[in-house]
Amino acid sequence: MATADEMLVLDRAMVERCLAEVDVLAVVEHCLRAHHRRLTVLPDEGYLAWTNACGAYSRSVAMHGAVREPGRDLFGLKVINAATSNPESGLDRAGGFAFLFDPQTARPRLMAEAGSLSALRTAAYTAVSLRYLGPAEPDCVSVLGCGALARMHLLVLEAAVPSLTSACVYDVVPERAARLAGWAAAAVPRLRVEMAPDPQACVARSAVLITVTVSAVPYLPPSWFPGPAFIAHVSLDDLLPETFAAASAIFVDDEDMVAANPRRILGRLISEGTVQRSASPVTPRVTGSLGQVIEGEVAAVRPDGGHVISNPFGLAILDVAVLAAVADAAGHLGAGVHLNLVDGLPEEWLRSRSAGRGDDGSIRARDA
Ligand SMILES: NC(=O)c1ccc[n+]([C@@H]2O[C@H](COP(=O)([O-])OP(=O)(O)OC[C@H]3O[C@@H](n4cnc5c(N)ncnc54)[C@H](O)[C@@H]3O)[C@@H](O)[C@H]2O)c1
Repeated sequence: MATADEMLVLDRAMVERCLAEVDVLAVVEHCLRAHHRRLTVLPDEGYLAWTNACGAYSRSVAMHGAVREPGRDLFGLKVINAATSNPESGLDRAGGFAFLFDPQTARPRLMAEAGSLSALRTAAYTAVSLRYLGPAEPDCVSVLGCGALARMHLLVLEAAVPSLTSACVYDVVPERAARLAGWAAAAVPRLRVEMAPDPQACVARSAVLITVTVSAVPYLPPSWFPGPAFIAHVSLDDLLPETFAAASAIFVDDEDMVAANPRRILGRLISEGTVQRSASPVTPRVTGSLGQVIEGEVAAVRPDGGHVISNPFGLAILDVAVLAAVADAAGHLGAGVHLNLVDGLPEEWLRSRSAGRGDDGSIRARDA
């Protein structure tokens, strides 16, 4: 790890090398337990949105989080930016950096590329939710949307769900579905990946659905499900209000954060009173959090009688917890580049630059 005056920097390849050493599902599950025990801090997110020159929705989200367990304090930040036009030019839609701060000095100690980390923690959350709330031993998973998150979900689920033998995928852009299927043949060879002709056929193909689209308009009715299903509503704006109303259970990662965000469908339904908070006796309502289920405070509901929705807002504490594990792995592997945070320019240089600007030609330029 870097000394007190340094910050360790990890690019994507180094982050992925370190992540290979980490049991990310275990880290995510542990962090959800800590969150349930109120050992975490999640300030409001900073959100900056704009439209880029192609007319595409673009945004920067700043997500702070802290995990404060006895003997181990983690403080950090993920800045994750995205433009929906990026995939057209061969770029991942989302990318950014994540930071770990020194608990004592508050200085940034680690800066790591966040695209892989963020996608992996999200897919790991889905895998943990599937373990606790999904059907026993699913053999197939349906995936709507065939971008970076779809790839990461297939990688994680292939490794985490031994019963899985196939995946059915659909994308509004057929070439993206074909590209995902081609990639999967080499990357997740245990899974037979088939392309659905339309979204309804994709949904109908299995009892596990993962939505990883960029749809801003809900479109998915309950009638598309031929039987009970587990739905990981990762992209947060796919399910129609009637699908929430028809669900036998709705689980979240953090109820307050979901309820406070009316930009997304479940937050909107809660703010309108169409879906109630978990404290209400009236249905439909939020059943509870995955952390409550893991800790045994709320009973798990599996898709036996009706469909079960997992609606993860996406918690910065998961990024921070996974990043801390990456930092440990980087320490073992000796990975990363050290950036000096304190040594400035030589004083003579600063004096010569400020000469003539101040009365005494002193170091003032540096303080400005
Ligand atoms: N909840 C969380 O914790 C969390 C975390 C990370 C990302 N996400 C969300 O996951 C989603 C996917 O992210 P990504 O990086 O893979 O994006 P991406 O742009 O790489 O891929 C999205 C794909 O969805 C396709 N698509 C758009 N509308 C569709 C529709 N109606 N039906 C089928 N396909 C459709 C697009 O053509 C694109 O190929 C985003 O909405 C992102 O905000 C959620």
